[in-house]
Amino acid sequence: MQFKKIQIRNKGNVTQEMNLTFVCFLVVEDDCPYQPPVMCHHNGPSLCFLIPEFWGDIANDFYWKSKHTGQFMDYNFDVTKGEIYIKCMEGATTNICYNVLDCNVHERGLGDKVAFYWEGNEPGDEMTVTYRELLQQVCQFANVLKSQGVKKGDRVSIYMPMVVELVVAMLACVRIGAVHSIVFAGFSAESLCERILDSQCSLLITADGFYRGDKLINLKVIADDALQKCRDKSFPVQRCIMLKHLSKEVEVPWNPEVDQCWLSLLSGVSEECEPEWCDSEDPLFILYTSGSTGKPKGVLHTIGGYMLYVATTFKLVFDYHPEDVYWCTADIGWITGHSYITYGPLANGATSVLFEGLPTYPDVSRMWEIVDKYQVTKFYTAPTAIRLLMKYGSEPVQKYKRDSLKVLGTVGEPINPEAWQWYYSVVGEKRCPVVDTFWQTETGGHVLTPLPAATPMKPGSATFPFFGVVPAILNESGEELEGPSEGYLVFKQPWPGVMRTVFGNHQRFETTYFEQFPGYYVTGDGCCRDKDGYYWITGRIDDMLNVSGHLLSTAEVESALVEHEAVVEAAVVSRPHPVKGESLYCFVTLTEGVSFSRTLEAQLKKQVREKIGAIATPDFIQNAPGLPKTRSGKIMRRVLRKIARNERDLGDVSTLADSSVIELLFQNHCCGAM
Ligand code: PRX
Repeated sequence: MQFKKIQIRNKGNVTQEMNLTFVCFLVVEDDCPYQPPVMCHHNGPSLCFLIPEFWGDIANDFYWKSKHTGQFMDYNFDVTKGEIYIKCMEGATTNICYNVLDCNVHERGLGDKVAFYWEGNEPGDEMTVTYRELLQQVCQFANVLKSQGVKKGDRVSIYMPMVVELVVAMLACVRIGAVHSIVFAGFSAESLCERILDSQCSLLITADGFYRGDKLINLKVIADDALQKCRDKSFPVQRCIMLKHLSKEVEVPWNPEVDQCWLSLLSGVSEECEPEWCDSEDPLFILYTSGSTGKPKGVLHTIGGYMLYVATTFKLVFDYHPEDVYWCTADIGWITGHSYITYGPLANGATSVLFEGLPTYPDVSRMWEIVDKYQVTKFYTAPTAIRLLMKYGSEPVQKYKRDSLKVLGTVGEPINPEAWQWYYSVVGEKRCPVVDTFWQTETGGHVLTPLPAATPMKPGSATFPFFGVVPAILNESGEELEGPSEGYLVFKQPWPGVMRTVFGNHQRFETTYFEQFPGYYVTGDGCCRDKDGYYWITGRIDDMLNVSGHLLSTAEVESALVEHEAVVEAAVVSRPHPVKGESLYCFVTLTEGVSFSRTLEAQLKKQVREKIGAIATPDFIQNAPGLPKTRSGKIMRRVLRKIARNERDLGDVSTLADSSVIELLFQNHCCGAM
């Protein structure tokens, strides 16, 4: 087959076209039954040998200072054959900031186009920034970073609210070849400190504070606490830049030897800054994600492949058109914000909404008010937000027209069919395809996803792999299952945007993702494939929990609990939650002589909140005089999960060392049946 173009057609109309060395027709007619073989999209292997052509053509749309020298993509996914590596366009030099800003301003004539409509927490608090303005601000701040001694390869930690300056800070880093490590502003001082230490950041960028709804978050106070913790661990961060974001004066701690004010640093600084030309495989950013051992992993992405991947997935998965107004409600502190607020949309010259606030503030219509206000066409959110708003019924949605909407996306966790139906029928009035995008911090961008209007939808299924992504389902023994099946979701080959390593710990990268099943990247998710070839994510099959679309490891919550002097042992499991998807149910065994009380329970919740952040606050804490263990001392989490759900069908418990604890645990159960 000799292909020339990709066309995505809906009812005969071409909605998207890309020049490629091959064609792939995705045709959906009203009367056209779904036929998997027609869609190359569905069948990775047919594309394997064409990957250099596919991505190579896309790469031609980007600016490269010099061409790549070796193979377009080179990799080893098999630990038995040596070190794992993935390289895309190694030897080519580029700058991602130059591609997403300078090219739009100087080559595509988009200087006056709005890059972001910033909508603050408080309605009426708003601001617009064009591509030209963004470029100026980024260059100026890049010069500031240089004057602070930041150089290519240095790591910079960013701990900021959802403001335009957060995008400015990240792009300023990458303009000068520095590597950003953004820490979600909901994380605690301890979590921030841990991430600064692990990535050895030379500088921290933060803000005085921000409002989440009506709650003031004193970010600088938390940042200072984190810097003190770093000093205590003999890692003094020399510089901290603080953006003054709050309109009212709040008292912020100030250390003149370290702290500097964003605004005053800008004075007299040039708005021009020559980009640092970097290798396609140079590091772009580090983003921490929970690890099953409890210590977060610094997922490292590199420049070239990530740029191609997020730009292309953004374009095709949201069927992006220049007149679109796109809104992703995620926080930039998570991968969704990195890929689909900053890099993907900007690479396409898109106009986006950047929202600082909450879906429920000042009332539960806020999202739809914003959709109408900016005439949002493509909307991307998480199932947890949909479930939250669904509770209030359709009336708050119907107060607004939403007639601009064209595509609705979801990400972060499996979407239950009820929430999907509500999203599709009430929010989108059955006019807008829903793209359920499955991906991970590690994958960089969407890996299983429908293409809107081209892929027939099934509520709750992320449908099929994106171009060039080759999934497989394995059984316990690592055998690939064919046809309808259920097992471990793995990928057989890399795509340009996949992570390259765990920062500072390549061994951990190999162990976590490649050791269990040599030859495959292991996602950690369970998956079902139905008779039509659709993929359905069933959830994590490792010791991770997904609370409101955020991954947490049971081990990190357990270690926060046992740091309390009253706790000798802790075991954390997931319990289904109607809005958050999953919630944290914690069993604690107390020190001899300490009795369980409401005060202790509150202290333990506070402890976890302070150690990790508000997202990790336990929902339930149960006194556990003993834990169900095997004779070899391993906690039987399967049994604890049943107890947390108050379900008595425990299955085989014959390997338990002492089964009498079970009855005791049921008696102490925190709440009734679900
Ligand atoms: O379990 C899967 C779930 O979220 C995990 C990745 O979390 P994180 O790295 O924080 O990135 C979240 C945003 C990309 C996955 O391993 N997940 C993500 N998207 C979906 C999903 N589960 C089901 N369906 C999805 N669409």
